[in-house]
Amino acid sequence: MLAIETSGLVKVFGDNRAVDGVDLAVPAGTVYGVLGPNGAGKTTAVKMLATLLRPDGGQALVFGKDVVREADAVRGRVSLTGQYASVDEDLTGTENLVLLARLLGHRKPAARERAAQLLDAFGLTEAAGRQVKNYSGGMRRRIDIAASILNTPDLLFLDEPTTGLDPRSRNQVWDIVRAVVAQGTTVLLTTQYLDEADQLASRIAVIDRGKVIAEGTKGELKASVGVGAVHLRLRDPGHRPAAEVLLAKTLDAQVILDADPLALTARLASGLNSAEQSSRALAELANAGITVDTFSLGQPSLDEVFLALTDRPVEAAA
Ligand SMILES: Nc1ncnc2c1ncn2[C@@H]1O[C@H](COP(=O)(O)OP(=O)(O)OP(=O)(O)O)[C@@H](O)[C@H]1O
Ligand SMILES: [Mg+2]
Repeated sequence: MLAIETSGLVKVFGDNRAVDGVDLAVPAGTVYGVLGPNGAGKTTAVKMLATLLRPDGGQALVFGKDVVREADAVRGRVSLTGQYASVDEDLTGTENLVLLARLLGHRKPAARERAAQLLDAFGLTEAAGRQVKNYSGGMRRRIDIAASILNTPDLLFLDEPTTGLDPRSRNQVWDIVRAVVAQGTTVLLTTQYLDEADQLASRIAVIDRGKVIAEGTKGELKASVGVGAVHLRLRDPGHRPAAEVLLAKTLDAQVILDADPLALTARLASGLNSAEQSSRALAELANAGITVDTFSLGQPSLDEVFLALTDRPVEAAA
C-alpha cells in the first residue's frame, strides 16, 4: 500500500525547473525522508503533494487519489506543517489550537479537550496561556506540529521541522514524530539534516536541483557509496598531514580532512577485513609517533553519502 506515488512530477517557475521529473513511492505507515540542500525543490514537491501547488507535468497520487483531479479527497487525508507555518502569533497556544479545531468542525468542548490534550503531550501546558509570538523556536515548532495533527491525518507532511532548533528541541520534535507514526500516520519529512533522516526515516530520497539522485533504505544508500569509514581524532593537529599520508597508504582509502583540525576520516573502498585493516593502520600511526585520541569504525555518515553522490559538500550545493 503506497501513501504517495509520483511519476515524472514537474514544477517550473519561469525557466527554473524547481521539481524536474520526480518519481517517488512512499509506503504507508512509515517515515519517508526527503533529503536535500537549500533550493533542492523539497518544499515545492511537498506543496504539490498537499494540493497547494498545481504540477506542470507528471502525476501524483496520494492514497491512490490524483492530487489535481481528486484534490478534495486528498485534502481530507493530509495535513501539512510548513516551513513557515500557520499559527497566529497574537493568539495564545490554547486559543490557536481551539480556533483551528473549531474550523475543523469540532464543537467547543471537544475542541478545548483536544487542545489541552495536545498541549500536554507536547510539553506546552505551562505556555498554553502565552501568546505564540513569545514562544521559543522549539516551542513554536511544537505548536505548529500540534496544530497539524488536531485531526489525526493519514499523511502528515513535515517540512524541515527542526531547522534552526537546538539539540534538545530537535530531540523533542523527533519524539513527537515517532509518536505520530506509532499511531498509524505516514510521515513525509523533508530535511537538510542528514542525521535527522538517519534517525527517523526508513527510506530516503536524496534530491538535488529538482531531481532524485538516490533512493533507498538508509543501508542501501550507504552501501551505494562505500562500505565504511574510519574516523580518527589526533592528540596533536601538527601530526595530521603525516597521518593523512599514512592512512591513505595503509588503508588504500580516500582520506578526508574534517573541519575539526584534529580529525580525519578514511573512506574504505572495501569491507573486507576492515577491522584488521584499521588496527594495522593504528599500529603504523603509533610506530610513527602519532597519538590517536579517539578512533571509530562505522558506516559512512549521510554527509559522506551526499558528498559521494554530488561530488560536492552539502554546504556548497545551494
Ligand atoms: N513561488 C515561487 N516562485 C518562483 N520560484 C520559486 C517559488 N518557489 C520556489 N521557487 C524556486 O524553486 C526552487 C526550489 O525551491 P524550494 O523552496 O522547493 O526548495 P527547498 O528544497 O524547499 O529549499 P529550502 O531547504 O531552502 O527550503 C528554488 O530555486 C526556488 O527559488
Ligand atoms: Mg523548503
